[in-house]
Amino acid sequence: MNSTQPVFSHPLLYLRKINTEDAEFLLTLNANPEVMKYTGEAPWQSLPEAQLFIEQNYQLSIKGIERWLVCLPNGKPIGLAGFRIFDDLPEQWDISFRFLPEYWNQGYAFITVQILTHHALYVSKQKALRAQVHEENLPSSRVLEKCGYQLDHRFTWGGMIWRCYYVRQKDFQVLPEILADLLR
Ligand SMILES: CC(C)(COP(=O)(O)OP(=O)(O)OC[C@H]1O[C@@H](n2cnc3c(N)ncnc32)[C@H](O)[C@@H]1OP(=O)(O)O)[C@@H](O)C(=O)NCCC(=O)NCCS
Repeated sequence: MNSTQPVFSHPLLYLRKINTEDAEFLLTLNANPEVMKYTGEAPWQSLPEAQLFIEQNYQLSIKGIERWLVCLPNGKPIGLAGFRIFDDLPEQWDISFRFLPEYWNQGYAFITVQILTHHALYVSKQKALRAQVHEENLPSSRVLEKCGYQLDHRFTWGGMIWRCYYVRQKDFQVLPEILADLLR
């Protein structure tokens, strides 16, 4: 559970497994109200919440569903991204991504969504990947639409309006470097 080797690599970032030592970073990320504003989750308040997440993420990873830390090439963690499933949609993978505000608008989400979408559709052979986005989360919708995610419907959850997107292989607008990796 404590490997820090890249699981997915790109010249600008890599994703690695989450370790028990990452609790402080996860708390910093998920306690930030700006980060959590459009996630539908309450900001975390204490380290045990991070430790519980790490354990639950490890248990899910055994079933192939996992979130990873997004790191700069120098090893600095900047975000959290990966897959989750909801109790009412147990067969449907959902993509999830979030970054510290000081790293926003530098293209990190776009690259991360590219990597994860490629993995879900081409490696794990999911027929479709779902994304759930708060109606007002325009940067998130922008990133998904740039990758080819299609708006399927809107729904209300927790008193908020959400967009439900899906992407399938035929719609995925893949970056050349990701495609090169696919063909290797
Ligand atoms: C949403 C989030 C992941 C985006 O990450 P990011 O690394 O800044 O995204 P990128 O830099 O790859 O792309 C952002 C895009 O949104 C655009 N954008 C930024 N602010 C915008 C706004 N107010 N309205 C419309 N588009 C906007 C940027 O111009 C960019 O598009 P472009 O590349 O065509 O110029 C980041 O803001 C975040 O972590 N937010 C908090 C957590 C969250 O909401 N996660 C998503 C849950 S679904």
